[in-house]
Amino acid sequence: MERFVYQGMPSRVVFEWGALATLPAEVERLGARRTLILATPDQRPLADEVARVLGARAAGVHAQAVMHVPVEVARAARDAAQALDADCCVAVGGGSTIGLGKAIALESSLPIVAVPTTYAGSEMTPIYGLTEGRLKRTGRDTRVLPRTVIYDPSLTLSLPAAVSAASGINAMAHAVEALYAEDANPVISLMAEEAIRALGEALHVIVCTPDDKAMRSRALYGAWLAGTCLGSVGMALHHKLCHTLGGTFNLPHAQTHAAMLPHTAHYNHAAAPGALTRVARALGGNVAADAGPLLFELNRTLDIPAALEQIGMPEEGLDEAADLACKNPYANPRPIERDAIRALLQRAWQGSAPA
Ligand SMILES: NC(=O)c1ccc[n+]([C@@H]2O[C@H](COP(=O)([O-])OP(=O)(O)OC[C@H]3O[C@@H](n4cnc5c(N)ncnc54)[C@H](O)[C@@H]3O)[C@@H](O)[C@H]2O)c1
Repeated sequence: MERFVYQGMPSRVVFEWGALATLPAEVERLGARRTLILATPDQRPLADEVARVLGARAAGVHAQAVMHVPVEVARAARDAAQALDADCCVAVGGGSTIGLGKAIALESSLPIVAVPTTYAGSEMTPIYGLTEGRLKRTGRDTRVLPRTVIYDPSLTLSLPAAVSAASGINAMAHAVEALYAEDANPVISLMAEEAIRALGEALHVIVCTPDDKAMRSRALYGAWLAGTCLGSVGMALHHKLCHTLGGTFNLPHAQTHAAMLPHTAHYNHAAAPGALTRVARALGGNVAADAGPLLFELNRTLDIPAALEQIGMPEEGLDEAADLACKNPYANPRPIERDAIRALLQRAWQGSAPA
């Protein structure tokens, strides 16, 4: 057997339809008495419901999370936690809300209970991100890894079909890059292939029937596996490009990942044939096929916008994006070639199939 290192992540996962009801017991298990509940402004009603479920253990609700965790938003949340003398954060929402919990934990070490309502996967990672002056900085710190994750698929029923599809492909991107990660290992690769399979099957149904309970559960199961991949092994070109596009051009996170994935998979196809064969197999395609076009076709079937132009990317920003992506690149199977990256970005911007 090839050489590998496997590092498990110490988090507790509770997965069940209706699992939100276990929140008081899970908070109690951490010995917390004064819980700060975090959410986006849109998800304030859900945060209020969480406060009701927590009863006397709820110290307050701070529904100010926004995408990419701007430093001033992080500062306000840290102040709120301090003012309330919070001893725990419950982050109920997508990656933006969980990211805000991480920003608090990074300075205070407050334990986080994450209740994810999208498929982004942040809940399973020790990775945090903060955005300042158009630049998104990410880092790893075990203090930000949520102690407990409560997966309640019923909370994803309200996620619109289009957002569900893009968020599911965002999750799939973690699994695709895990398969060719520099520090890939057999356990995480098994999880990655299973994540792609589960997400692929579930998303096809969810876009037509968003309230299909079995497929909502299957998608969240895939998201859990994919988030574990993201937290366990290093990501490559795809994540670097998406961080750049998200942080510098403020593009929507999930849609950016979805539009870029066919292109980055194609870019790496010849350099990581074993990994991308597993992607093609998990998608139910011909294993000899290039996973890039398969992913492009999957996006088309799911009605996900193919073009970065459609999600707000200015064409005049493509040169800067290519330059930033080539600066301090992440380890990647194929060397980072500036001209090829610029050409890839052009195709992604106009929504052309990978070539
Ligand atoms: N650190 C990590 O490991 C990691 C991993 C993945 C994503 N992220 C970060 O997370 C952010 C993106 O997360 P996201 O894609 O989950 O988006 P998000 O958290 O911004 O959510 C998108 C929108 O959907 C709404 N929403 C969420 N769940 C909903 C539901 N069930 N029903 C109705 N509306 C709902 C939110 O209120 C928000 O308006 C980015 O900043 C990204 O960098 C970090």
